[in-house]
Amino acid sequence: MSILEVNNIKKKFDNTEILKGISFSMEKGQTLSILGSSGSGKTTLLRCLNFLETPDCGTISVNGNLLFDAMKQPYSEAEIREKRVHFGMVFQQFNLFPQYTALENVALAPKLFNNGKVPDSEIDAMCKDLLSKMGLSDRMYNYPHQLSGGQQQRVAIARALALKPDILCFDEPTSALDPELTGEVLKVIKELASQHTTMIIVTHEIGFARDVSDEIIFMDDGIIADKGTPSQVIDNPINERTKQFLSNYSGHS
Ligand SMILES: Nc1ncnc2c1ncn2[C@@H]1O[C@H](COP(=O)(O)OP(=O)(O)OP(=O)(O)O)[C@@H](O)[C@H]1O
Ligand SMILES: [Mg+2]
Repeated sequence: MSILEVNNIKKKFDNTEILKGISFSMEKGQTLSILGSSGSGKTTLLRCLNFLETPDCGTISVNGNLLFDAMKQPYSEAEIREKRVHFGMVFQQFNLFPQYTALENVALAPKLFNNGKVPDSEIDAMCKDLLSKMGLSDRMYNYPHQLSGGQQQRVAIARALALKPDILCFDEPTSALDPELTGEVLKVIKELASQHTTMIIVTHEIGFARDVSDEIIFMDDGIIADKGTPSQVIDNPINERTKQFLSNYSGHS
């Protein structure tokens, strides 16, 4: 059974169809990268998976459980909160809370969701462990403004992992970073991939996507134009739009 099954997701904004019927599945422990030109609908797709947007059509199942069905709307706030925990989201702009330390940013949601079942000290220990794994053991008590972009993004990754999502999603996790900080974030993501964390990564880092991914989706104008292994999609693209897109990037990855 696939960990994620997405079936015929469609989404309109202002009468323009942005997602035109997206279907794919992925297996547990795999890394799926999504490539595609600006405006092709990559962020919208991730936002649909994370219940930040509501698709007009289609279904989303996780571990065989139907999580979203456009026919069964609307879902209550409480239902959406519950459904959302299956996905972790790391954004381009980190979105850390500026008034909280790194540790507080990571521990906030686990404490909120926990309803006092696990002592706070245990949650803090788990979050410190995650921050250490991100190479931030000496930064736990720093506030976001005291951290580099790369460090902030690694806090954001720890924060997403702290809720133990089934699928961790990244939306261009390094595109707000200087090149020298990009490497440290990609290294952490690569490590997560080697530990078989299930991940969907929207990225413009073609070389990275080729290295880290089990599968690659190429999106074009709201559809999946190409899907396959990195060598199929990146090294031997068949689709004309994929070829064109990749040729714009040659030498940049
Ligand atoms: N909330 C919204 N309201 C109206 N239009 C939107 C909204 N969100 C996205 N769009 C439009 O949907 C299209 C796809 O946007 P999306 O952000 O998904 O693209 P993308 O593939 O992530 O692009 P990029 O690589 O630039 O991040 C764009 O034309 C965008 O203007
Ligand atoms: Mg985007």
